Amino acid sequence: MQIEFNPDEIIEVQKYVSKYPEKRSALMPVMWMAQKKWGWISPEVMKYISELLEIPLSNVEGVASFYTMYFKKPMGKYHIQVCTNVSCMLRKGDQIYKHVSEQLGIGNLETTEDGVFSLEEVECMGACGGAPMIAINEDYYENIDMTKVDELINNFKK
Ligand code: FES
Repeated sequence: MQIEFNPDEIIEVQKYVSKYPEKRSALMPVMWMAQKKWGWISPEVMKYISELLEIPLSNVEGVASFYTMYFKKPMGKYHIQVCTNVSCMLRKGDQIYKHVSEQLGIGNLETTEDGVFSLEEVECMGACGGAPMIAINEDYYENIDMTKVDELINNFKK
């Protein structure tokens, strides 16, 4: 697979770069773009970004490994994040995580065999007022329970 942004994406990269005094500061949004395009931040993607932004590969690797939102391996088409931090845990977030894990037959940071779902147990996602909550890709689902989770998963299976 060719690891290269298309001309429109390069324009987007340049917009990010223009917002900062240093090119390297655009690293995080550019990595996010890359993850959306290729699904994860592979070693090849890291190398491409380091060349594109003219920064050491070790800097890209450091940011990728520090932030859990950057996937270091391929994830499912629908990445389910279940918050089990305090507010959500007090409202059964931990049980919801266990339930989803059992329903899908996968553990933390694993992907179903068909590649449709992956699962991640996460810390607070800043939506405590709607605890317990989960996120599927970039959408939040708040005040969730087992029934609602099952409905969501079934809908995404269709
Ligand atoms: S504790 Fe779950 S969103 Fe804050």
